[in-house]
Amino acid sequence: MLKIRVLDHPYIQVVLTTLRDKNIKQVEFRKALVRLGRAIGFEITRDLELETVEVETPLGVKARGVRFKDFDKIVIVTVLRAGMPMTEGLIKIFYNARQGVVSARRIEEKGMYPDKTFDIELTYVRLPRIDREDTVIIVDPMLATGSTIREVLKIILEKGRPKRVFVVSAISTMLAIERLREIIEAYNVDGVVYTAAIDPEINEKGYIVPGLGDAGDRAFGD
Ligand code: URA
Repeated sequence: MLKIRVLDHPYIQVVLTTLRDKNIKQVEFRKALVRLGRAIGFEITRDLELETVEVETPLGVKARGVRFKDFDKIVIVTVLRAGMPMTEGLIKIFYNARQGVVSARRIEEKGMYPDKTFDIELTYVRLPRIDREDTVIIVDPMLATGSTIREVLKIILEKGRPKRVFVVSAISTMLAIERLREIIEAYNVDGVVYTAAIDPEINEKGYIVPGLGDAGDRAFGD
């Protein structure tokens, strides 16, 4: 089953507004993506199981507290290159995560199909071990047509069957989410999409509208 969390935390919405602003410079944009990744990381922790623990304080007394149960069972897969800054933020929260990377390109020569999909070629895939108890977090800031995220998800689920998959994005469309849902259901895995916004349109070049432009180009220069 796929759940969708549109994150309305004021901090996240402020960062998203910065990202949408065409007047911010490259470095500002990249840093804002890092902040967004970190803030979304905090939101994700709401969905992690806690276990009760007891610690001894420097005063020699016991205090009851909590820790995350499966904190060492997190894998972060970054969709290059646009996903890199958000991963930088996420890794501050999930500091023990194993990491993988996937590079994908739209086969633009074939153009966009009338149903607003693209053919995708995965050009580089390096994934760590994926175990049954793992939570895999895939980071792709823009879920536009869903063509890339479907292929990335398929390659991950062919490699291993984790407990669940979290997809982290800045902006998504319902088309991408519905196409992602098909893969989640076909592989019978649990998934959550964490996104700061769901935008209404995709233009003829595959950009999300109003969106924020090309996240990779804006973060790293074109
Ligand atoms: N990728 C981007 O970087 N921006 C979009 O609007 C769509 C896909």
